[in-house]
Amino acid sequence: MDAELQKSLEYAEPNQMSDAMTTTETHLQTHIQAVADRWSEGLSRCAYDAVWISAGTERMYFQDDQGPAFKPNPYFTQLVSPDFAHAGARCLLQPGRKPELFLIQPADYWHAPSPLPDYLNTQVEINVFKSEAHLQTACRALQTQFNRTAYVGEDRGNENPGELNDPSLISYMDFHRAVKTPYELDLMRQASEVGVRGHIAAESAFRNGCSEFEIHMAYLQASQQTDLEVPYANIVALNEHGATLHYQLQDRTLPEPSLSLLIDAGGTFRGYASDITRTYASVPEGPFASLIDLMQAHQDHLLEQVQAGISYATLHEQMHRNLADVLVAAELVTCSSEAAFAEGVTEKFCPHGLGHLLGIQVHDVGGHLADESGNEAPPAPNYPALRFTRTLEPDQVFTIEPGLYFIAPLLEQLRNENASVNWSKVDELRPFGGIRIEDNVRVVSQGIENLTRDAWDRVTLA
Ligand code: GLY
Ligand code: MN
Ligand code: MN
Repeated sequence: MDAELQKSLEYAEPNQMSDAMTTTETHLQTHIQAVADRWSEGLSRCAYDAVWISAGTERMYFQDDQGPAFKPNPYFTQLVSPDFAHAGARCLLQPGRKPELFLIQPADYWHAPSPLPDYLNTQVEINVFKSEAHLQTACRALQTQFNRTAYVGEDRGNENPGELNDPSLISYMDFHRAVKTPYELDLMRQASEVGVRGHIAAESAFRNGCSEFEIHMAYLQASQQTDLEVPYANIVALNEHGATLHYQLQDRTLPEPSLSLLIDAGGTFRGYASDITRTYASVPEGPFASLIDLMQAHQDHLLEQVQAGISYATLHEQMHRNLADVLVAAELVTCSSEAAFAEGVTEKFCPHGLGHLLGIQVHDVGGHLADESGNEAPPAPNYPALRFTRTLEPDQVFTIEPGLYFIAPLLEQLRNENASVNWSKVDELRPFGGIRIEDNVRVVSQGIENLTRDAWDRVTLA
Protein backbone atom coordinates (compact mmCIF):
# COMPACT_ATOMS: atom_id res chain seq x y z
CA MET A 1 0.00 0.00 0.00
CA ASP A 2 1.37 3.41 -0.82
CA ALA A 3 2.25 5.80 2.00
CA GLU A 4 -0.39 8.40 1.08
CA LEU A 5 -3.24 5.92 1.22
CA GLN A 6 -1.90 4.47 4.45
CA LYS A 7 -1.93 7.92 6.01
CA SER A 8 -5.43 8.71 4.78
CA LEU A 9 -6.76 5.46 6.26
CA GLU A 10 -5.10 6.01 9.60
CA TYR A 11 -6.48 9.47 10.10
CA ALA A 12 -9.62 9.43 7.99
CA GLU A 13 -12.71 11.31 9.09
CA PRO A 14 -15.94 9.37 8.50
CA ASN A 15 -16.64 11.09 5.18
CA GLN A 16 -13.15 10.10 4.07
CA MET A 17 -13.83 6.45 4.91
CA SER A 18 -16.17 6.24 1.93
CA ASP A 19 -13.19 7.25 -0.23
CA ALA A 20 -11.21 4.53 1.51
CA MET A 21 -14.01 2.10 0.65
CA THR A 22 -13.64 3.00 -3.03
CA THR A 23 -9.93 2.29 -2.69
CA THR A 24 -10.85 -1.03 -1.09
CA GLU A 25 -12.74 -1.98 -4.24
CA THR A 26 -9.74 -1.09 -6.38
CA HIS A 27 -7.59 -3.35 -4.18
CA LEU A 28 -9.92 -6.28 -4.83
CA GLN A 29 -8.56 -6.90 -8.29
CA THR A 30 -4.92 -7.16 -7.19
CA HIS A 31 -6.01 -9.27 -4.21
CA ILE A 32 -7.76 -11.87 -6.34
CA GLN A 33 -4.80 -11.96 -8.70
CA ALA A 34 -2.35 -12.37 -5.79
CA VAL A 35 -4.35 -15.19 -4.19
CA ALA A 36 -4.86 -16.91 -7.56
CA ASP A 37 -1.09 -16.67 -8.23
CA ARG A 38 -0.44 -18.18 -4.80
CA TRP A 39 -2.73 -21.12 -5.58
CA SER A 40 -1.07 -21.54 -8.99
CA GLU A 41 2.36 -21.78 -7.37
CA GLY A 42 1.05 -24.25 -4.77
CA LEU A 43 -0.61 -26.35 -7.48
CA SER A 44 2.54 -26.44 -9.55
CA ARG A 45 4.66 -27.52 -6.54
CA CYS A 46 2.20 -30.31 -5.77
CA ALA A 47 1.69 -31.30 -9.44
CA TYR A 48 -2.02 -30.48 -9.81
CA ASP A 49 -3.74 -29.01 -12.89
CA ALA A 50 -6.42 -27.20 -10.93
CA VAL A 51 -8.10 -26.88 -7.52
CA TRP A 52 -11.75 -26.95 -6.55
CA ILE A 53 -12.48 -24.89 -3.45
CA SER A 54 -15.85 -25.67 -1.95
CA ALA A 55 -17.71 -23.16 0.22
CA GLY A 56 -19.25 -26.05 2.16
CA THR A 57 -22.78 -27.10 3.01
CA GLU A 58 -25.23 -26.21 5.74
CA ARG A 59 -25.30 -28.51 8.77
CA MET A 60 -28.22 -29.54 10.94
CA TYR A 61 -28.28 -30.38 14.63
CA PHE A 62 -28.92 -34.02 15.49
CA GLN A 63 -32.49 -35.06 14.69
CA ASP A 64 -33.38 -31.49 13.79
CA ASP A 65 -34.15 -29.33 10.78
CA GLN A 66 -32.30 -26.40 12.37
CA GLY A 67 -28.56 -25.85 12.45
CA PRO A 68 -25.76 -23.34 13.16
CA ALA A 69 -25.29 -20.34 10.88
CA PHE A 70 -23.49 -21.29 7.66
CA LYS A 71 -19.86 -20.18 7.55
CA PRO A 72 -17.96 -20.71 4.29
CA ASN A 73 -14.66 -22.55 4.01
CA PRO A 74 -11.98 -19.90 4.73
CA TYR A 75 -10.06 -20.72 1.54
CA PHE A 76 -13.23 -19.84 -0.39
CA THR A 77 -13.63 -16.66 1.65
CA GLN A 78 -10.08 -15.57 0.94
CA LEU A 79 -10.56 -15.84 -2.78
CA VAL A 80 -13.95 -14.16 -3.17
CA SER A 81 -14.39 -12.38 0.22
CA PRO A 82 -18.12 -12.93 0.24
CA ASP A 83 -20.55 -10.63 1.96
CA PHE A 84 -22.98 -13.37 1.04
CA ALA A 85 -23.44 -16.90 2.37
CA HIS A 86 -23.63 -19.24 -0.61
CA ALA A 87 -23.79 -22.75 0.78
CA GLY A 88 -22.98 -25.28 -1.93
CA ALA A 89 -20.86 -22.81 -3.96
CA ARG A 90 -17.47 -23.74 -5.42
CA CYS A 91 -14.51 -22.03 -7.02
CA LEU A 92 -12.34 -23.54 -9.71
CA LEU A 93 -8.81 -22.27 -10.08
CA GLN A 94 -6.59 -23.15 -13.00
CA PRO A 95 -3.17 -21.55 -13.36
CA GLY A 96 -3.26 -18.69 -15.84
CA ARG A 97 -7.10 -18.58 -15.98
CA LYS A 98 -9.63 -16.29 -14.36
CA PRO A 99 -11.09 -17.97 -11.25
CA GLU A 100 -14.52 -19.47 -11.88
CA LEU A 101 -17.26 -19.24 -9.27
CA PHE A 102 -20.19 -21.71 -9.32
CA LEU A 103 -23.23 -20.63 -7.30
CA ILE A 104 -26.64 -22.11 -6.61
CA GLN A 105 -29.72 -19.85 -6.73
CA PRO A 106 -32.66 -22.23 -6.21
CA ALA A 107 -36.27 -21.19 -6.73
CA ASP A 108 -36.89 -21.03 -2.97
CA TYR A 109 -39.86 -19.33 -1.38
CA TRP A 110 -38.79 -20.33 2.15
CA HIS A 111 -35.59 -18.25 2.20
CA ALA A 112 -34.38 -15.01 0.66
CA PRO A 113 -31.81 -15.71 -2.04
CA SER A 114 -28.19 -14.81 -1.29
CA PRO A 115 -27.31 -11.73 -3.35
CA LEU A 116 -25.08 -12.23 -6.36
CA PRO A 117 -21.64 -10.74 -5.69
CA ASP A 118 -21.71 -7.98 -8.33
CA TYR A 119 -18.43 -6.54 -7.09
CA LEU A 120 -16.71 -9.71 -8.32
CA ASN A 121 -18.14 -9.56 -11.84
CA THR A 122 -15.05 -8.36 -13.63
CA GLN A 123 -12.53 -10.43 -11.67
CA VAL A 124 -14.26 -13.80 -11.56
CA GLU A 125 -16.29 -15.85 -14.04
CA ILE A 126 -19.65 -16.35 -12.30
CA ASN A 127 -21.89 -19.31 -13.19
CA VAL A 128 -25.30 -19.64 -11.53
CA PHE A 129 -27.25 -22.92 -11.27
CA LYS A 130 -30.79 -23.76 -10.17
CA SER A 131 -29.78 -26.70 -7.99
CA GLU A 132 -26.81 -28.54 -6.56
CA ALA A 133 -27.47 -31.36 -9.05
CA HIS A 134 -27.12 -28.94 -11.98
CA LEU A 135 -23.92 -27.50 -10.47
CA GLN A 136 -22.46 -30.98 -9.96
CA THR A 137 -23.22 -32.00 -13.55
CA ALA A 138 -21.43 -28.92 -14.90
CA CYS A 139 -18.44 -29.48 -12.59
CA ARG A 140 -18.17 -33.17 -13.56
CA ALA A 141 -18.11 -32.19 -17.23
CA LEU A 142 -15.28 -29.72 -16.56
CA GLN A 143 -13.39 -32.26 -14.49
CA THR A 144 -12.83 -34.52 -17.51
CA GLN A 145 -10.29 -32.07 -18.96
CA PHE A 146 -7.89 -32.38 -16.01
CA ASN A 147 -5.34 -35.07 -15.19
CA ARG A 148 -5.03 -34.36 -11.48
CA THR A 149 -7.07 -31.94 -9.39
CA ALA A 150 -6.93 -30.92 -5.77
CA TYR A 151 -10.07 -30.37 -3.70
CA VAL A 152 -10.11 -28.12 -0.63
CA GLY A 153 -13.18 -28.32 1.55
CA GLU A 154 -15.28 -30.66 3.63
CA ASP A 155 -15.16 -34.36 2.77
CA ARG A 156 -18.03 -35.26 0.38
CA GLY A 157 -17.01 -38.93 0.19
CA ASN A 158 -17.39 -40.32 -3.32
CA GLU A 159 -18.31 -36.86 -4.60
CA ASN A 160 -14.95 -35.27 -3.75
CA PRO A 161 -13.92 -33.72 -7.07
CA GLY A 162 -10.17 -34.23 -6.52
CA GLU A 163 -7.57 -35.13 -3.90
CA LEU A 164 -8.91 -34.01 -0.57
CA ASN A 165 -7.08 -31.34 1.43
CA ASP A 166 -3.52 -32.28 0.44
CA PRO A 167 -1.42 -31.19 3.49
CA SER A 168 1.43 -29.89 1.30
CA LEU A 169 -0.90 -27.61 -0.65
CA ILE A 170 -2.74 -26.49 2.49
CA SER A 171 0.54 -25.72 4.34
CA TYR A 172 1.75 -23.65 1.41
CA MET A 173 -1.47 -21.59 1.38
CA ASP A 174 -1.62 -21.31 5.19
CA PHE A 175 1.97 -20.13 5.52
CA HIS A 176 1.42 -17.30 3.06
CA ARG A 177 -2.02 -16.35 4.44
CA ALA A 178 -0.29 -14.75 7.44
CA VAL A 179 0.84 -11.90 5.17
CA LYS A 180 -2.16 -9.80 4.21
CA THR A 181 -2.81 -8.11 0.87
CA PRO A 182 -3.76 -4.40 0.78
CA TYR A 183 -7.38 -5.49 0.21
CA GLU A 184 -7.35 -7.75 3.28
CA LEU A 185 -5.84 -4.91 5.32
CA ASP A 186 -8.64 -2.59 4.18
CA LEU A 187 -11.26 -5.11 5.29
CA MET A 188 -9.53 -5.59 8.64
CA ARG A 189 -9.50 -1.82 9.24
CA GLN A 190 -13.24 -1.84 8.59
CA ALA A 191 -13.69 -4.85 10.91
CA SER A 192 -11.74 -2.92 13.57
CA GLU A 193 -14.15 0.02 13.31
CA VAL A 194 -17.12 -2.32 13.63
CA GLY A 195 -15.67 -3.73 16.86
CA VAL A 196 -14.63 -0.37 18.28
CA ARG A 197 -18.16 1.04 17.90
CA GLY A 198 -19.41 -1.87 19.98
CA HIS A 199 -16.69 -1.45 22.62
CA ILE A 200 -17.45 2.24 23.14
CA ALA A 201 -21.13 1.44 23.72
CA ALA A 202 -20.23 -1.49 26.00
CA GLU A 203 -18.08 0.68 28.27
CA SER A 204 -20.84 3.21 28.57
CA ALA A 205 -23.41 0.44 29.35
CA PHE A 206 -21.08 -0.86 32.09
CA ARG A 207 -20.73 2.61 33.60
CA ASN A 208 -24.51 2.95 33.52
CA GLY A 209 -24.90 -0.16 35.68
CA CYS A 210 -25.91 -2.70 33.02
CA SER A 211 -25.74 -6.49 33.38
CA GLU A 212 -23.56 -8.70 31.16
CA PHE A 213 -26.57 -9.44 28.97
CA GLU A 214 -27.41 -5.75 28.58
CA ILE A 215 -23.76 -4.88 27.80
CA HIS A 216 -23.73 -7.64 25.17
CA MET A 217 -26.92 -6.26 23.57
CA ALA A 218 -25.50 -2.71 23.62
CA TYR A 219 -22.39 -4.05 21.87
CA LEU A 220 -24.42 -5.75 19.13
CA GLN A 221 -26.62 -2.70 18.59
CA ALA A 222 -23.72 -0.25 18.33
CA SER A 223 -21.58 -2.50 16.13
CA GLN A 224 -24.63 -3.28 13.95
CA GLN A 225 -24.04 -7.00 14.15
CA THR A 226 -26.34 -9.87 15.04
CA ASP A 227 -25.15 -12.70 17.25
CA LEU A 228 -24.64 -14.72 14.04
CA GLU A 229 -22.32 -12.12 12.53
CA VAL A 230 -19.82 -11.53 15.32
CA PRO A 231 -16.49 -13.30 14.57
CA TYR A 232 -16.58 -15.21 17.89
CA ALA A 233 -18.94 -15.40 20.84
CA ASN A 234 -18.69 -12.16 22.83
CA ILE A 235 -16.89 -12.51 26.17
CA VAL A 236 -18.64 -10.09 28.53
CA ALA A 237 -17.38 -10.69 32.03
CA LEU A 238 -18.23 -8.69 35.15
CA ASN A 239 -16.21 -9.12 38.34
CA GLU A 240 -14.70 -12.58 38.94
CA HIS A 241 -16.10 -13.86 35.60
CA GLY A 242 -13.07 -12.11 34.05
CA ALA A 243 -10.92 -14.94 35.42
CA THR A 244 -12.58 -17.39 32.98
CA LEU A 245 -10.61 -16.80 29.79
CA HIS A 246 -13.40 -17.54 27.30
CA TYR A 247 -16.35 -16.83 29.64
CA GLN A 248 -19.41 -17.56 27.51
CA LEU A 249 -22.43 -16.86 29.73
CA GLN A 250 -24.25 -13.57 29.76
CA ASP A 251 -25.72 -13.12 33.18
CA ARG A 252 -29.08 -11.33 33.23
CA THR A 253 -28.58 -10.17 36.81
CA LEU A 254 -26.27 -7.38 37.81
CA PRO A 255 -23.76 -8.33 40.53
CA GLU A 256 -23.71 -6.06 43.56
CA PRO A 257 -21.37 -4.29 43.49
CA SER A 258 -20.38 -4.29 39.80
CA LEU A 259 -16.61 -3.79 40.12
CA SER A 260 -15.02 -4.51 36.77
CA LEU A 261 -15.70 -5.38 33.14
CA LEU A 262 -13.51 -7.49 30.85
CA ILE A 263 -15.00 -7.44 27.35
CA ASP A 264 -13.42 -9.40 24.49
CA ALA A 265 -15.51 -8.85 21.36
CA GLY A 266 -14.82 -8.34 17.68
CA GLY A 267 -16.27 -7.19 14.39
CA THR A 268 -16.66 -8.84 11.01
CA PHE A 269 -16.33 -7.15 7.67
CA ARG A 270 -16.75 -9.18 4.48
CA GLY A 271 -15.44 -12.32 6.15
CA TYR A 272 -12.51 -10.69 8.02
CA ALA A 273 -12.32 -10.27 11.79
CA SER A 274 -11.13 -7.96 14.50
CA ASP A 275 -10.47 -9.32 18.02
CA ILE A 276 -10.43 -6.63 20.71
CA THR A 277 -10.34 -6.73 24.52
CA ARG A 278 -10.64 -3.94 27.05
CA THR A 279 -10.86 -4.03 30.83
CA TYR A 280 -12.46 -1.34 32.99
CA ALA A 281 -12.71 -0.61 36.70
CA SER A 282 -15.98 0.89 37.96
CA VAL A 283 -14.07 3.40 40.10
CA PRO A 284 -11.14 5.44 38.79
CA GLU A 285 -9.05 4.94 41.92
CA GLY A 286 -8.19 1.82 43.83
CA PRO A 287 -6.04 -1.28 43.45
CA PHE A 288 -7.73 -2.66 40.34
CA ALA A 289 -7.60 0.66 38.45
CA SER A 290 -3.89 0.89 39.33
CA LEU A 291 -3.34 -2.65 38.09
CA ILE A 292 -5.05 -1.77 34.79
CA ASP A 293 -2.64 1.19 34.44
CA LEU A 294 0.33 -1.11 35.00
CA MET A 295 -1.03 -3.59 32.43
CA GLN A 296 -1.62 -0.80 29.91
CA ALA A 297 2.02 0.30 30.28
CA HIS A 298 3.01 -3.38 29.93
CA GLN A 299 1.05 -3.68 26.65
CA ASP A 300 2.44 -0.35 25.36
CA HIS A 301 5.95 -1.62 26.02
CA LEU A 302 5.30 -4.86 24.12
CA LEU A 303 3.76 -2.97 21.19
CA GLU A 304 6.93 -0.88 20.96
CA GLN A 305 9.00 -4.02 20.58
CA VAL A 306 7.10 -5.46 17.62
CA GLN A 307 9.18 -5.31 14.48
CA ALA A 308 9.94 -7.35 11.40
CA GLY A 309 12.64 -9.96 11.87
CA ILE A 310 12.05 -10.82 15.52
CA SER A 311 10.41 -14.04 16.67
CA TYR A 312 6.93 -13.87 18.19
CA ALA A 313 7.97 -16.65 20.58
CA THR A 314 10.69 -14.32 21.93
CA LEU A 315 8.12 -11.55 22.34
CA HIS A 316 5.90 -13.96 24.27
CA GLU A 317 8.78 -14.74 26.62
CA GLN A 318 9.39 -11.00 27.00
CA MET A 319 5.73 -10.66 27.97
CA HIS A 320 6.35 -13.05 30.89
CA ARG A 321 9.50 -11.19 31.97
CA ASN A 322 7.59 -7.89 31.96
CA LEU A 323 4.59 -9.46 33.69
CA ALA A 324 6.96 -10.43 36.50
CA ASP A 325 7.80 -6.71 36.87
CA VAL A 326 4.06 -5.94 37.05
CA LEU A 327 3.56 -8.57 39.77
CA VAL A 328 6.37 -6.99 41.80
CA ALA A 329 5.12 -3.42 41.24
CA ALA A 330 1.57 -4.43 42.28
CA GLU A 331 2.96 -6.25 45.34
CA LEU A 332 1.32 -9.49 44.23
CA VAL A 333 4.54 -11.43 44.80
CA THR A 334 7.13 -11.22 47.57
CA CYS A 335 10.07 -12.45 45.48
CA SER A 336 12.16 -10.64 42.86
CA SER A 337 10.95 -10.15 39.31
CA GLU A 338 13.70 -12.52 38.08
CA ALA A 339 12.52 -15.24 40.47
CA ALA A 340 8.82 -14.75 39.54
CA PHE A 341 9.76 -15.33 35.90
CA ALA A 342 12.26 -18.16 36.45
CA GLU A 343 9.96 -20.10 38.81
CA GLY A 344 7.04 -19.91 36.38
CA VAL A 345 4.85 -17.81 38.70
CA THR A 346 3.86 -15.55 35.79
CA GLU A 347 2.56 -18.61 33.88
CA LYS A 348 -0.12 -19.06 36.56
CA PHE A 349 -1.20 -15.42 36.30
CA CYS A 350 -1.31 -15.55 32.47
CA PRO A 351 -1.82 -19.07 31.09
CA HIS A 352 -2.59 -18.00 27.50
CA GLY A 353 -0.26 -16.89 24.71
CA LEU A 354 0.64 -13.28 23.95
CA GLY A 355 -1.49 -13.52 20.81
CA HIS A 356 -2.18 -15.15 17.49
CA LEU A 357 -2.51 -14.52 13.78
CA LEU A 358 -5.75 -12.84 12.76
CA GLY A 359 -7.68 -12.66 9.50
CA ILE A 360 -10.58 -14.70 8.20
CA GLN A 361 -10.38 -16.86 11.28
CA VAL A 362 -10.02 -15.25 14.69
CA HIS A 363 -7.22 -17.68 15.45
CA ASP A 364 -5.94 -17.66 11.91
CA VAL A 365 -4.14 -20.72 10.56
CA GLY A 366 -0.40 -21.13 10.11
CA GLY A 367 0.81 -19.73 13.43
CA HIS A 368 3.12 -22.70 14.05
CA LEU A 369 4.40 -23.08 10.49
CA ALA A 370 8.16 -22.58 10.22
CA ASP A 371 8.11 -22.48 6.43
CA GLU A 372 5.91 -22.88 3.36
CA SER A 373 6.75 -26.61 3.14
CA GLY A 374 4.81 -27.34 6.30
CA ASN A 375 7.66 -27.76 8.82
CA GLU A 376 6.45 -26.87 12.29
CA ALA A 377 7.79 -24.40 14.86
CA PRO A 378 6.07 -25.63 18.04
CA PRO A 379 5.97 -23.46 21.17
CA ALA A 380 8.28 -24.21 24.12
CA PRO A 381 6.83 -26.98 26.36
CA ASN A 382 6.06 -24.51 29.18
CA TYR A 383 3.98 -22.33 26.79
CA PRO A 384 1.57 -24.90 25.26
CA ALA A 385 -1.15 -22.29 24.64
CA LEU A 386 1.04 -20.07 22.45
CA ARG A 387 -0.58 -20.08 19.00
CA PHE A 388 2.02 -18.04 17.13
CA THR A 389 5.76 -18.75 17.05
CA ARG A 390 6.88 -17.37 13.68
CA THR A 391 9.37 -14.72 12.68
CA LEU A 392 7.55 -11.42 12.12
CA GLU A 393 7.23 -10.12 8.55
CA PRO A 394 5.73 -6.94 7.09
CA ASP A 395 1.95 -7.15 6.61
CA GLN A 396 1.40 -10.00 9.03
CA VAL A 397 -1.56 -9.14 11.25
CA PHE A 398 -1.82 -10.56 14.75
CA THR A 399 -2.95 -9.71 18.26
CA ILE A 400 -0.96 -8.42 21.23
CA GLU A 401 -3.04 -9.37 24.27
CA PRO A 402 -1.20 -9.58 27.57
CA GLY A 403 -3.31 -10.65 30.53
CA LEU A 404 -3.22 -11.02 34.29
CA TYR A 405 -5.94 -13.09 35.99
CA PHE A 406 -6.89 -14.41 39.40
CA ILE A 407 -7.80 -17.98 38.37
CA ALA A 408 -8.75 -20.07 41.40
CA PRO A 409 -7.27 -23.48 40.36
CA LEU A 410 -3.98 -21.91 39.19
CA LEU A 411 -3.69 -19.86 42.38
CA GLU A 412 -4.27 -23.10 44.27
CA GLN A 413 -1.29 -24.62 42.45
CA LEU A 414 0.87 -21.65 43.52
CA ARG A 415 -0.28 -22.12 47.10
CA ASN A 416 0.59 -25.84 46.98
CA GLU A 417 4.02 -24.97 45.59
CA ASN A 418 4.59 -22.47 48.43
CA ALA A 419 5.27 -19.83 45.78
CA SER A 420 6.23 -16.35 46.98
CA VAL A 421 2.77 -14.84 46.56
CA ASN A 422 1.36 -11.99 48.62
CA TRP A 423 -1.93 -13.73 49.42
CA SER A 424 -3.60 -10.77 51.11
CA LYS A 425 -3.09 -8.68 47.96
CA VAL A 426 -4.32 -11.54 45.76
CA ASP A 427 -7.42 -11.93 47.94
CA GLU A 428 -8.08 -8.20 47.68
CA LEU A 429 -8.00 -8.38 43.85
CA ARG A 430 -9.72 -11.74 43.23
CA PRO A 431 -13.25 -10.24 43.09
CA PHE A 432 -12.18 -8.20 40.01
CA GLY A 433 -11.46 -11.34 37.95
CA GLY A 434 -8.63 -10.28 35.68
CA ILE A 435 -7.31 -7.98 33.00
CA ARG A 436 -6.73 -8.45 29.28
CA ILE A 437 -5.91 -5.65 26.85
CA GLU A 438 -5.92 -6.76 23.22
CA ASP A 439 -5.01 -4.80 20.10
CA ASN A 440 -4.68 -5.97 16.49
CA VAL A 441 -1.47 -4.94 14.80
CA ARG A 442 0.12 -5.07 11.38
CA VAL A 443 3.90 -5.20 10.99
CA VAL A 444 5.19 -2.33 8.82
CA SER A 445 8.74 -1.51 7.77
CA GLN A 446 9.36 0.38 11.04
CA GLY A 447 7.27 -0.98 13.91
CA ILE A 448 3.50 -1.39 13.59
CA GLU A 449 0.20 -0.04 12.38
CA ASN A 450 -2.17 -0.47 15.33
CA LEU A 451 -5.48 -1.31 13.63
CA THR A 452 -7.42 -1.14 16.90
CA ARG A 453 -6.19 2.20 18.22
CA ASP A 454 -6.35 3.83 14.78
CA ALA A 455 -9.96 2.68 14.43
CA TRP A 456 -10.68 4.04 17.92
CA ASP A 457 -9.33 7.43 16.87
CA ARG A 458 -11.39 7.45 13.66
CA VAL A 459 -14.61 6.49 15.45
CA THR A 460 -14.17 8.93 18.35
CA LEU A 461 -13.08 11.81 16.10
CA ALA A 462 -16.19 11.28 13.96
N1 GLY B 1 -11.17 -13.69 21.52
C1 GLY B 1 -10.33 -14.80 21.72
C2 GLY B 1 -8.92 -14.41 21.77
O1 GLY B 1 -8.61 -13.29 22.13
O2 GLY B 1 -8.04 -15.15 21.41
MN1 MN C 1 -7.19 -12.83 20.57
MN1 MN D 1 -9.92 -11.68 22.02
